[in-house]
Amino acid sequence: MSAAPIAPARSRIAILGGTGNVGRGLALRWANAGYEVIIGSRSSEKAALTSAQINSELGRPAVGHGGYREAAGSAPIVVLTVPYAAQRSAVEEVADLLAGRILIDTTVPLMPPKVARVQLPSGGSAVAAIQEMLGSSVRVVSAFQNVPAHLLLDLAHEVECDVLVCGDDVAARETVIQLIADIGLSALHAGPIANSAATEALTSVLISINARYKVQGAGIRITRVPCRGHS
Ligand SMILES: NC(=O)c1ccc[n+]([C@@H]2O[C@H](COP(=O)([O-])OP(=O)(O)OC[C@H]3O[C@@H](n4cnc5c(N)ncnc54)[C@H](OP(=O)(O)O)[C@@H]3O)[C@@H](O)[C@H]2O)c1
Repeated sequence: MSAAPIAPARSRIAILGGTGNVGRGLALRWANAGYEVIIGSRSSEKAALTSAQINSELGRPAVGHGGYREAAGSAPIVVLTVPYAAQRSAVEEVADLLAGRILIDTTVPLMPPKVARVQLPSGGSAVAAIQEMLGSSVRVVSAFQNVPAHLLLDLAHEVECDVLVCGDDVAARETVIQLIADIGLSALHAGPIANSAATEALTSVLISINARYKVQGAGIRITRVPCRGHS
């Protein structure tokens, strides 16, 4: 794993699948906010390239990299940004390392080619299924399902949509809301992990809206909530 300096007052964040669209955007934004980020990847070459690109954009060595297990074992906050088809196997690979940690799961159970149609898995929610699989020793928090990756990747772009944050552990949700506020996004408590079914489903609604109105990156904004997690 390449070394990156540890900011003493900040947590380390591991991003499994951090070479992908959402993962790169989150790595860039958290590293830019002063967090130490470790990209977890199945490919050390791909991870090295991604971390070098982000470090070059930021002008400092803020992002390191390793395998999924190396990354997950090194951070109190683990973020999962892999396709739905790889979600369970990626979590299984690191499951024994996750006790006591917060797992932020961004998964949307899209089933190509009909991604504009809600197709939730049996049981209702892809992320709730991971909480059930891991048990209560891991605090799973669902977030970012409705944030387009290309907006995260552009530091100059203010992402004005709300991030709905679901999880059974309120303190873990609060931690994640602060992490999201630290990268300049607005985040809201959206209830227990079961409610992730709604945020996962909403992504297909937004994809439909993008197609119908020929826009990229339609998002959601909740009205009449004056106090949001926002830096
Ligand atoms: N794209 C969006 O706008 C968006 C928005 C909100 C939520 N999401 C959700 O966020 C998650 C990540 O989306 P993404 O668009 O960032 O995905 P992506 O770019 O297609 O893939 C992300 C990473 O997943 C890893 N991966 C692990 N197993 C894989 C497999 N079997 N096949 C392909 N990749 C695999 C790869 O990293 P390594 O090869 O380095 O391991 C890959 O770079 C998804 O669950 C998606 O539904 C996406």
